[in-house]
Amino acid sequence: MTGPRRVSLVALGLLLLTACSAGGSPPSTATSTSPPTTSPATTTTLALPTTTTPTSTTTPTTTTLPIDPALAGLGDPYFPTLGNSGYDVVAYIVALTVDPDENTIEGLALISGWATQDLETLNFDLLGLTVDSIEVDGVAAAFTRDGAELVVRPRWHIPVGTAFHVEVAYHGTPENLYTIGFPLGWVDAGDITYVVAEPDAARTWFPANDHPADKAHFTFHITVPAGLTVAANGTLVEVVPGDGVTRFTWEMPEQTATYLATVVIGNLIRLERPGPGGVLLRDYLPADMGNELPAPLVRVPEMLELYAGLFGPYPFTEYGHAVVPGMPGALENQTLTAFGREILEDQGAFGRPTVEEIVAHELAHQWFGDSVSPATWQDIWLNEGFATFAQWLWVEHDLGREAYDATIAGNYEFLAGAPHPPPGDPGPDGSQMFHYSVYLRGGLTLHALRVEVGDDTLFAILRSWAERHAYGNGSTPEFIALAEEISGADLTALFDAWLYQAQLPALP
Ligand code: ARG
Ligand code: ZN
Repeated sequence: MTGPRRVSLVALGLLLLTACSAGGSPPSTATSTSPPTTSPATTTTLALPTTTTPTSTTTPTTTTLPIDPALAGLGDPYFPTLGNSGYDVVAYIVALTVDPDENTIEGLALISGWATQDLETLNFDLLGLTVDSIEVDGVAAAFTRDGAELVVRPRWHIPVGTAFHVEVAYHGTPENLYTIGFPLGWVDAGDITYVVAEPDAARTWFPANDHPADKAHFTFHITVPAGLTVAANGTLVEVVPGDGVTRFTWEMPEQTATYLATVVIGNLIRLERPGPGGVLLRDYLPADMGNELPAPLVRVPEMLELYAGLFGPYPFTEYGHAVVPGMPGALENQTLTAFGREILEDQGAFGRPTVEEIVAHELAHQWFGDSVSPATWQDIWLNEGFATFAQWLWVEHDLGREAYDATIAGNYEFLAGAPHPPPGDPGPDGSQMFHYSVYLRGGLTLHALRVEVGDDTLFAILRSWAERHAYGNGSTPEFIALAEEISGADLTALFDAWLYQAQLPALP
């Protein structure tokens, strides 16, 4: 880790200890604890279409389904093969039976969607795990694996505009990805198992159209050994005791990007309190942390009120944190932010931002990132720049305008002395998408806009952004167009200088 990066962590305290400084190369796989990667292509099998049930034996042949490259990705500038074309997922129902000791899952994923073009085959993203059988509309379907692509050939083609239901039975030990920084996917952290998947690791625990452009509703049925607790996105709707097991059902009715879907399993306690505007606050802590809310989480109701006033109503009905061990940061999973226990408990390691400011940052992501998700991963500043700016607004609310101004000046000074890519175009591939520039210069872009158009107009822009793109996606050109529409000003030069030019503009 280089000098400037360390300064950024200590003095400016970016959220993600190792991850955030991802201007450099990813950690070597030597430090990885991930199991061997997915089975080689030579073991690819084809299950013949049959009308038998998924548990019955199918006859594998050596035939391989051809992969239509046009279907095997959405052309994301950073992750071209993530996601799939040709259909739109409406809902995922993910049923897992989990053995946390063995770190294995037995899964059944029901994916409902509709075809946006005539489809001979359907592609999903799935990395690792063993697929046992697949049915499309109740009829066994042929499938093949090629790396992270799962190609399904229904017995009948799916005409454009038609709905379909795909059921995938699968099992195994999910592998972790180290795309940028910390372990991603289904993480076995000893006593606790948790999922953090941004940007590309949802595909390690369920078959998905794994790109934020295809958001969907989620239901989770998670069966765990009796005595353990399961938290997930949205609302806990049912807890059903069984023979030595308990099944937890969680529902996330609002559209969710796959990278924000999460499950957390362990000996957890749930702390509940009413929040402002009827929002239910529920936090999940490792049981040994006791029954008291950790100090940095105490003021979440005040943060919710502040942000609802500035950005418009909180977009969901519940919010809270899942505190997990060994995670060097935090991640804004929809309605249930994953928060590293060690940083939550160790304010001493941080100067600014304080851990409480990071809590505010993750909450702000519920508007910017979760409800309004980036159109592509290159639009990541719409997540991180916005949440960082919101975090500075918490500083202003809590400590006053001078503290806000000092924060702006300090971050500007840091950037002026630290090499960085422009936040709207942070590098040719995804490796720098969480660069400190995306956070800090991204946040300063909104500060520059604030100075240019004034507070009333700025917050009108942010509210319209949150409202018009609620539960959907937004792109950088759309944001610029909206800012110009609402302010009536020509903002091309401002956004171009802050988002796209190598040189850091003067601080307004
Ligand atoms: N969105 C997270 C945040 O609030 C950062 C996630 C970083 N992701 C990663 N793969 N390192 O800042
Ligand atoms: Zn963030």
